[in-house]
Amino acid sequence: MPCRACGDAVTQFLDLGRQPLSDAFRSPDDVSDEFWLHLKAVVCHGCHVVQLADPVPVERMFHEEYPFRTSSSRRMSSHFAATAERLVAGLAAPDPFVVEIGSNDGTMLATIADRGIRHLGIDPAANMVGEALARKVNARAEWFDAVTADRVRDEFGPADVVYAANTMCHIPDLPGVFTGLETLLADDGIVVFEDPYLGDVLRLGSFDQIYDEHFYLFSATSVARIAELHGFALVDVEHLEVHGGELRYTLARDGRTPSPAVGALIAQEGRERTHELPRLAAFAAEVADRRDRLRDVLDGERAAGRSVAGYAATAKSATVLNYCGIGPELLPVVYDTTPEKQGRLTPGSHIPVEPFPQDLADYPDTFLLFAWNHAEEILAKEQQFVDRGGRWIRYVPDVRLG
Ligand code: TYD
Repeated sequence: MPCRACGDAVTQFLDLGRQPLSDAFRSPDDVSDEFWLHLKAVVCHGCHVVQLADPVPVERMFHEEYPFRTSSSRRMSSHFAATAERLVAGLAAPDPFVVEIGSNDGTMLATIADRGIRHLGIDPAANMVGEALARKVNARAEWFDAVTADRVRDEFGPADVVYAANTMCHIPDLPGVFTGLETLLADDGIVVFEDPYLGDVLRLGSFDQIYDEHFYLFSATSVARIAELHGFALVDVEHLEVHGGELRYTLARDGRTPSPAVGALIAQEGRERTHELPRLAAFAAEVADRRDRLRDVLDGERAAGRSVAGYAATAKSATVLNYCGIGPELLPVVYDTTPEKQGRLTPGSHIPVEPFPQDLADYPDTFLLFAWNHAEEILAKEQQFVDRGGRWIRYVPDVRLG
C-alpha cells in the first residue's frame, strides 16, 4: 500500500506479528472470533512519515464502548488544564471558537467551557461524549472529516483554534482530516496537535507506541511536509514529556514565519537520520532483543517463585504481550483502574484485568510496569509497595528489574 498521507512509496522496517485491537478487552465468556491484524511499520520515501503497513478497522476501534479515558491519569488532567490555559491566552478574536478533535471525556475542553468560550468537541466514542456533556462541555459523537467540518463551519463559523491530542495519529485518512481543516479553520486560525514522537520512540526503544490506534508516528520533518501539501506550514514545534515523549505541532496557513524551533528540530532529525532505513533497522533489532530479555526476566521470576502482575492494562501493553508471547502462565493478572476494563481479558493474550488490591498484602512481589509513561505519578503513589520490598520490571528505556 502507498503512503496514506502523501501517496508515495513506502518500505517496511518492523514486523510486530499478529496483533489484536489494543482496546478490545474481552468478556471471559465471549467465545466469538477475535479480530487480528498484522502489525508492520513502514516509512514513506516522500513525506517520511512512519505508519502501519495495513489498513486498520477504525469503526471497530473507536465506538460507543471505547474504554480509554483521558482523566484516568492525574498528570494528564493537569497537562490538559495547562494546555487549555495556553490556548485561551493565545485567542485574539472577539468571540473565539475552539474545536477539539478527539475530545474524549472533555478533560481539556472543560477549562475552555469554564471560561465561557465557544467550543465544540468531536469524537466518535459516544460514551466519552456523554461524559464530556455531563461536565458541561459541548460535544458530539461524530467522526471528523470534510463533511463534518463543513457542517460545523455552517453552524458555528470558522474555528480560531483546532486542537487534537493523541488523535491525529489515530486517523489513517489524514488527507481527509486536512481537507476538513482547510474548510473549518479561520484564515488566521491555528491547528495545534500533539502525538507520540518518532524521535522519542527510537531513543527509548518504546516499540509499544506502535499499535493499531497509533497509525502514524510523526516527526517535525514529516508533519512539515504533509502540512505543505495542504497549504499549511509548520510554524512551531514543542517537545512534551507526557505519554513517553510527544511533539506538539502548530500549523497555520502558509505565509507565517516559523519559529526557530522548527528548523532546529528538522535539522536534528536529519543529523540523527531519524527517517533513514539503517536507523530504523537498528531500532527493529533492538526491539527483538528487548523481547527476548523481557521474557528471560519473567521466566526468572517464575522460576524463583515470585508472583508478578501487570501494572495498568494500557493499549500499549497489547503490543508487548502479543509480540513477546506473554500470557497468563507468565503474568496471571493485570491491574487497572478503568471500570470498563476490569473483569475482562486483555486482547489477544487473555490475561484477566482486575482492580488493584485494596490491601498491600495482596500486592504481587513484582510489577511489570505497562504504564511506564506515567512512571513518576505511579512510583509516587506506590512508594509503600517498594518500601516492603516490591520490585518493578521495566522494558522502557531498557529491560530492567529493580
Ligand atoms: P496510558 O498509558 O495513558 O494509555 P494507553 O492506553 O493509550 O497506552 O494508560 C492508561 C491506562 O492505564 C488506563 O487503562 C488506566 C491505567 N492506569 C492505572 O491503572 N493506574 C494509574 O496510576 C495510571 C496512571 C493509569
